[in-house]
Amino acid sequence: MNSGRDLEAIARSLVKPGKGILAADESLPTIGKRFAALGIPSTEETRRAYRELLFTTPGLAKYISGVILFDETIRQTADGPTMPELLIRRGMIPGIKVDLGTVALPRFPGEKFTQGIDGLRERLGEYRRLGVRFTKWRAVISIGDGQPTKTCIETNARDLALFAALSQEAGLVPIVEPEVLMDGEHTLARCEEVTGIVLDAVFAALNDHRVNLEAMLLKTGMVLPGKEQAQQSAPHTLAAATLRVLHRAVPPGVPGIVFLSGGQTDIEATERLNAICATGPSLWTLGFSFGRALQDEAMKTWGGVPADKVAAQKALLHRARCNSFAVRGRYSPAMEQISADGAERLMR
Ligand code: 13P
Repeated sequence: MNSGRDLEAIARSLVKPGKGILAADESLPTIGKRFAALGIPSTEETRRAYRELLFTTPGLAKYISGVILFDETIRQTADGPTMPELLIRRGMIPGIKVDLGTVALPRFPGEKFTQGIDGLRERLGEYRRLGVRFTKWRAVISIGDGQPTKTCIETNARDLALFAALSQEAGLVPIVEPEVLMDGEHTLARCEEVTGIVLDAVFAALNDHRVNLEAMLLKTGMVLPGKEQAQQSAPHTLAAATLRVLHRAVPPGVPGIVFLSGGQTDIEATERLNAICATGPSLWTLGFSFGRALQDEAMKTWGGVPADKVAAQKALLHRARCNSFAVRGRYSPAMEQISADGAERLMR
């Protein structure tokens, strides 16, 4: 079993400067949807082959500290080793999504809560034995007319805190993810306000549950106007709003904050991450934990065709590298066009 100190060290290694976390934890319905959009059949073997492709990308550990897996993947092998063993050998820390997805919150139309607390203690014990070192639980909060409600925020905050406490009990570092969704026509100011209210509730619940803040990470969205809002914001404006709310709501004991991409395009996510990180200084180490914004181009390039594996790995490495520059506030759009060597030269 890991001591509190070990957990704190793992949390800090996940947010080493210049590194981020690859979220490859799509549930079966979600990966099925993403594959279907590209005409890739979703079978146990195509999902395994795709994840193996991602994890065996040469040089990935230079930019990626850890990978969030899905339950199916953790039990699969890659030419011998299990996926968690493969990641450890390649210098990345394996983690796992442990929530069981979101469902409707009864009597609160349009709002959701996350399932998976029942039996979680036993599942965490098994995951720990299977070699993972950290966990993730995602709650979603929608902004809309009269939303989010206090009931929705508090239900989700409590479950996130219970998940975090159970993870630490099991010797695992929790990534606490309250995602404020981008859907809707709300303004940047409204997203900032809701993000603040949600984070206040989440940290109150974490404290109530005696969670060790030094041994967890926060995963949050950037503060953005809704997708349907006509008035979009420049990167420096949303960076200022994001940092304002985080400085107000996130205790300095939390070692790191990682951003999700939430449906932004990959380049938008990188540009905005760069703006946030370039604005600094911050109390915590900032990082990324992107799913779509790291994988979209790689998945499209692969398309289920084995011969396109190497090109897909290059696409993943490129995005990981651009985001690594962004967390140091040193990304520029010119990097999109140049080779790996050229980009590294530019960095020196
Ligand atoms: P996206 O970056 O695609 O939003 O995924 C991150 C994630 O892990 C959501 O839980």
